[in-house]
Amino acid sequence: MQFVLLSALASLIQGGAAASGADWRSRSIYQVFTDRFARTDGSTTYPCDVKNNIYCGGTWKGIQNKLDYIKNLGFTAVWISPVTAQVTEAYHGYYQTDLYSVNNNFGSANDLKSLAAALHAKGMYLMVDVVPNHMGWAGCHDTVNFQKFAHFNKPEHYHSYCELADMSNQTEVEKCWIGNCNMTMPDLKTEDPHVASEMNRWIKTLVANYSIDGLRIDSVKNVNADFFPPWCQSAGVFCMGEVSEGRPGYTYPYQQYMDSVLDYPLYYAIKRVFQRESPMSDLVVNLAACTQDTDAGCRDASLLGTFFENHDNARFPAATQDLSLVKNALAFTIMSDGIPILYQGQEQHFSGGDDPGCREALWSSGYSTTTPLYAHTALLNQLRNHISATHPAYLTYQTRVLTYTADVIQLRKDAIRSIFTNQGAQGGSYTLSTQGMEFSKGETVVDVLTCSEYVAGEKGDVDVRMERGEPRVLVGKGGLGGSGICGVD
Ligand SMILES: *[C@@H]1O[C@H](CO)[C@@H](O)[C@H](O)[C@H]1NC(C)=O
Ligand SMILES: *[C@@H]1O[C@H](CO)[C@@H](O)[C@H](O)[C@H]1NC(C)=O
Ligand SMILES: *[C@@H]1O[C@H](CO)[C@@H](O)[C@H](O)[C@H]1NC(C)=O
Repeated sequence: MQFVLLSALASLIQGGAAASGADWRSRSIYQVFTDRFARTDGSTTYPCDVKNNIYCGGTWKGIQNKLDYIKNLGFTAVWISPVTAQVTEAYHGYYQTDLYSVNNNFGSANDLKSLAAALHAKGMYLMVDVVPNHMGWAGCHDTVNFQKFAHFNKPEHYHSYCELADMSNQTEVEKCWIGNCNMTMPDLKTEDPHVASEMNRWIKTLVANYSIDGLRIDSVKNVNADFFPPWCQSAGVFCMGEVSEGRPGYTYPYQQYMDSVLDYPLYYAIKRVFQRESPMSDLVVNLAACTQDTDAGCRDASLLGTFFENHDNARFPAATQDLSLVKNALAFTIMSDGIPILYQGQEQHFSGGDDPGCREALWSSGYSTTTPLYAHTALLNQLRNHISATHPAYLTYQTRVLTYTADVIQLRKDAIRSIFTNQGAQGGSYTLSTQGMEFSKGETVVDVLTCSEYVAGEKGDVDVRMERGEPRVLVGKGGLGGSGICGVD
């Protein structure tokens, strides 16, 4: 007992209380693509042609200097690109050569420590992207000289080469190598006890050295799943894995091996629905896919990472420019059961296509804080931050579908009721009667997106003004007390 108390005290004194799932649940995450967020010189004109696939000069110092841009969007955590040393021109960070050195294109080890300290001083968390599956080699698989790697420098640390040809064969997915003759990714033999224990040692010191609060784990489906529980335990912080697969039955069971996975099944559904490729019923099916008590394998929907853009996929506006549809997808994401994640540039309505098109330099926007989507994001984060602080049940309340048609859905998540539509800007203006919202009779209800007020009728429903396909986010006025939202103090 005394020992436990002493070590708790010691960790408090060091200022490092490791962040768990419970600590992350209330957070919202801004995804920074380190090479493309901000340069140390703060330039807004430095050229960056995504097609060149070379460094554009973003740094950790650059991020640190622009933290208020992120904080004022209401985010409480920042996910950055992998930090390890890389082959030449691996500006994204996924072709590492030395796990124990940092990528000096992004700055020094002290710069990274300084970024972590600056985030913590603002009450924000640092999430670092990590890659346990592979190293990087600029050449064909048969030219790899393992001795060139700083660690894991012997052939027996890797699976023997095979080409990953059949993505439906899980053995191949885990044991074969990704890449081609321009860039090969020697595949670490993570089921080997020596490799696993070295990996455990590495992640523990990485987290400690840089005061990391959470991990985004790359290429999870390419690694044997039972590698992760001891690894995440060594890390001692929240783990969110990338399982880039839309089938719930494939993706969600990975949550049995780590705190969280990126919600790729919901990502595809959000895109289909708000790009008008499928009706609202598609969302309904997907909202039910991760429940705590089914065979789906999900442990906790409130810890999944909810997103609809990232650095690997064409941006939403690449296909659908309509701002009202973007606003619906964005509001749905921030108000969902999981931990919301926005990728840099969403707030600027960037529209880049498939990788590398979606990796535009954010500085080309001039870091404008007056765009419609900047304001929309900031308001929704402010609301989520306020409600999760004042309504203890909100974060773990599982969203209920109240009613839906092909193009309008009404949802309730505890204190918040929302209406989403994929009618788009041509959707016109009309009055919508809600169903099952269960506000109190006579209660004043505020749509936080317009500050319009309604009075709940006999059954606790309201008649809401819908306009040009915009979403609606409704809260009892009393629930906004102290938030400053819509002037409610
Ligand atoms: C899957 O791949 C492994 C390794 O290449 C192979 O031995 C096995 O036969 C494959 N299984 C199927 C069902 O194709
Ligand atoms: C390798 O790189 C060259 C030059 O950039 C490119 O033309 C070629 O398509 C690449 N090959 C593969 C397999 O990606
Ligand atoms: C962390 O710091 C220690 C002490 O300087 C060093 O030995 C270790 O290699 C570092 N680990 C990483 C992953 O940077």
